[in-house]
Amino acid sequence: MSIKETFIQDILSGYQYKGEKIVLGKAKLDGEVLSEAEISVALKTMNRHGLIAGATGTGKTKSLQILAEQLSLKGVPTLLMDIKGDLSGIAAPGEENKAIIERQQLLGIDYTPMGAPVEFLSLSHEPGARLRATVTEFGPILFSKILELNDTQTGIISIVFKYCDDKGYPLLDLKDIREVLRYLSDDDRGKQELASTYGSISKASLGTILRKIVTLEQQGADRFFGEPSFDVNDLLKTKDEKGVVSIIRLTDIQNRPSLFSTFMMSLLAEIYESFPETGDPDKPKLVIFIDEAHLIFKEASKTLLDQMETMVKLIRSKGVGLFFCTQVPGDVPDGVLGQLGLKIQHALRGFTAKDRKQIQKAVENYPITSYFKADEVITQLGIGEAFVTALNEKGIPTPLAYTYMRAPLSRMDVLSETEIETIIGKSELVDKYSQEIDRESAYEMLTQRLKTEENPQPAQPKKPEGRPKKEKSVFETIITDSTTKSFIRTIGN
Ligand SMILES: Nc1ncnc2c1ncn2[C@@H]1O[C@H](COP(=O)(O)OP(=O)(O)OP(=O)(O)O)[C@@H](O)[C@H]1O
Ligand SMILES: [Mg+2]
Repeated sequence: MSIKETFIQDILSGYQYKGEKIVLGKAKLDGEVLSEAEISVALKTMNRHGLIAGATGTGKTKSLQILAEQLSLKGVPTLLMDIKGDLSGIAAPGEENKAIIERQQLLGIDYTPMGAPVEFLSLSHEPGARLRATVTEFGPILFSKILELNDTQTGIISIVFKYCDDKGYPLLDLKDIREVLRYLSDDDRGKQELASTYGSISKASLGTILRKIVTLEQQGADRFFGEPSFDVNDLLKTKDEKGVVSIIRLTDIQNRPSLFSTFMMSLLAEIYESFPETGDPDKPKLVIFIDEAHLIFKEASKTLLDQMETMVKLIRSKGVGLFFCTQVPGDVPDGVLGQLGLKIQHALRGFTAKDRKQIQKAVENYPITSYFKADEVITQLGIGEAFVTALNEKGIPTPLAYTYMRAPLSRMDVLSETEIETIIGKSELVDKYSQEIDRESAYEMLTQRLKTEENPQPAQPKKPEGRPKKEKSVFETIITDSTTKSFIRTIGN
């Protein structure tokens, strides 16, 4: 047998799965695309996480798009963190241009342009269904982590949460917790009240925590905290048997790392908590893609990194896969990197000593191949080409394959504003989360209490208040189940 024939044999046996698969492209050897050597990933292993890496402009985002749209076709919903705002095109059919036709001919794969069902979600001012969570839902541990509090300060936050729980002051948004902290620092009132039951707390520590909350607010987190909180089950939708692709537009958040970290942590914790254990399913329940993932890791605190590592480990059993898309594998902490099953490595550049170290690091993590010198070829991969290694259904890595990737079936360019508006206009999810509920919570209750204490006389003719009085909503039940939630959120500490 010639080398080529042996190679094809190796690929065919290495990439053979019993269950359903997602085709990524075809293997390439000595400059030739071998249309019989199909490179695919077993659907069953998509909860074993993955990495898409490569220098700028090498095709990472398109690989992400291919995975997400193919998952959709298999009925698997996905969630895309769209940091650069270049993923919306997945909603529209691709354009059959010359480059795409040539690519597909080389691959021997038919090209049927199609878009996927898309929902736009938003954490900030971007249009889309609003994502929110209450402070209580975060629980004291996670909330402290966002603020990067030390152990003593975390202890204080736990006491503050307990105090609010005991008093029946719901902590919904940041102004609630701010108001409670202010009240508790007041020498004449809160400080004494707290000291009598829970022990005294240093005013300086409360001041520090308050300042950190203000910083978080300045980063725009005030829009994120509140009600109604987002139900993660809304990420599990299908439409006409296709998985819905939920895109969180984060373009205006790049410079607010702690908001992004906060959000990622809470989302993963919420998913972990809400989804049942799935055992060993034939396909994942949800796959989350984080494009430009270096942003979360670079800016993340040690606590977030630890949390991520633990979450990556645990969330698999809920049928959820996490895919990180970034320039060099070294952007992802080792503890996370070691847990990623699928690797799609686009070209790396070897200009500097640091670059070459990154190349070594990438190559070390691959199965050894005798067909090419991975550390050399990795710098020569063309656009839309990548080294691929996946896990087979037994969890064993598939052979390293120089892969000529297929083209996305959806549009490679972004949607126009009008196209986005049309999708948002039709979305039931946007309607569901568009109304902000500001029910009576700690802020209003404490303000009212202080007023009554200062002025015990009954009903005087009132001046209109600065804040309009909100009607009590049907949600007027105090969330007391924070114990279970915070228990789960302490996992990983
Ligand atoms: N699989 C593919 N099929 C067809 N064209 C592709 C493919 N992958 C990449 N390309 C082409 O290369 C361009 C750049 O790809 P892409 O945007 O995915 O790069 P990237 O690695 O995400 O870059 P950046 O680091 O700037 O985000 C695409 O606009 C497209 O023209
Ligand atoms: Mg990109």
